[in-house]
Amino acid sequence: MATEQARITIFDTTLRDGEQSPGCSMNHQEKLRLAQQLDRLGVDVIEAGFPIASEGDFAAVKAVSAVIRRPIVAGLARACRPDIERAWEALKDAAHPRIHVFLATSDIHLKDKLRLTRAQCLENAREAMRLAKSLCDDVEFSPEDATRTDPEFLYQVLDAAVQAGATTLNIPDTVGYSVPAEFGDLIAAIRRRVKGIENVTISAHCHNDLGLAVANTMAAVAAGARQVECTINGIGERAGNASLEEIVMAMRVRPDRYPYETGVVGEQIFPASQLLSEITGVPVQPNKAVTGRNAFAHEAGIHQDGMIKNPLTYEIMTPKSVGVPDSKLVLGKHSGRHALAMRCEQLGYQFDRRALDDIYRRFVRLADKIKNVGDHHLLELIRDTHKPAASATPLIERLPTAVSAAVNSGSNDAQSKPFSAAPQANAFGLPVPVPADHHEQEDYLWGV
Ligand code: KIV
Ligand code: ZN
Repeated sequence: MATEQARITIFDTTLRDGEQSPGCSMNHQEKLRLAQQLDRLGVDVIEAGFPIASEGDFAAVKAVSAVIRRPIVAGLARACRPDIERAWEALKDAAHPRIHVFLATSDIHLKDKLRLTRAQCLENAREAMRLAKSLCDDVEFSPEDATRTDPEFLYQVLDAAVQAGATTLNIPDTVGYSVPAEFGDLIAAIRRRVKGIENVTISAHCHNDLGLAVANTMAAVAAGARQVECTINGIGERAGNASLEEIVMAMRVRPDRYPYETGVVGEQIFPASQLLSEITGVPVQPNKAVTGRNAFAHEAGIHQDGMIKNPLTYEIMTPKSVGVPDSKLVLGKHSGRHALAMRCEQLGYQFDRRALDDIYRRFVRLADKIKNVGDHHLLELIRDTHKPAASATPLIERLPTAVSAAVNSGSNDAQSKPFSAAPQANAFGLPVPVPADHHEQEDYLWGV
């Protein structure tokens, strides 16, 4: 019998915390465009901005509130009247508005930044949450720098927020200082110690200063958090926030360890990542998990060989499942003959072993000089390799794929497996593939 998976609320803060990362600010129109994509992506909450911060952000939150109907739209506010009223003004037309109030609770923030005593902090939190609740049913409270706050004081502030009507308690690891077991323990302690917590959603908001944002988020979920705050491509203050795509795919790929479900539409992940990058002009780090351009690229020969035989050898999720058009075999100096032969075939050329050896030798020399060998390089190389000394006419003409398939149609098998047993010569007198076994050992050895 299938066990029911807990549903995790995805709170996307790309438009607020994400926007706070250098070079990532977005104008009103851009925020609206991205909010529409976040809606298609299936997130549950869109934090659209910090309305008191600027006229532009106010207008953006207002526009998102007016247009987006399914997800909750949240606006951030400090724990003071002008912020909360401004946030409400921007949010009040939303189908599902949420006011998100935050107030620092760690001694370092209280003393050196806010110049408040703990008693004043407690009072401000209570007052602010009462005001927010008088305007909006759905109110979230965040004790900023929670992970460096004295836990006993943290429970007191959280108690006060719950009594004042908080529906979500968000626990921020504001400076990315926590480690997974510790963060999980904190969430578990909050569940034991805060009165009325059973009627409130606990949320995790992790920054990536130590590269632990996603790991901390997953630990929080395992300990009972049911909302995660995250951003597309992990953008956000300093080293960024926990990445939405990494959290969601960890749950999808490892349900044995993370038996949780989300409303995210996997196929919309890559389009969201690309749109964000296009809007901000900030490229995605090539090796970024899930959305980087190398996340589904395979260059090493041994990997390419495995991928051709069975993609599961080196891919734990399909590119399609996250909306990436196709996995790419990047031809570079680490590529093996098998990958080269396959690419040549896709370009319409088929070679016997000797011809392939010849091309392969030249290909490796070229790849040593230029990093990635593109199709146009390969075509040039093929023509060049097979040009007879006395004539400029290539010996091997480019075969349209259909003709190439027809050439191989001696057996059904030959059509479904590109390198399975096939005749050594064809009716056109052109080279054809050799049996798969010929390549196997060799690709393994050539690969890195
Ligand atoms: O990192 C943080 O503490 C925040 C709060 C405003 C939730 O972004
Ligand atoms: Zn943050």
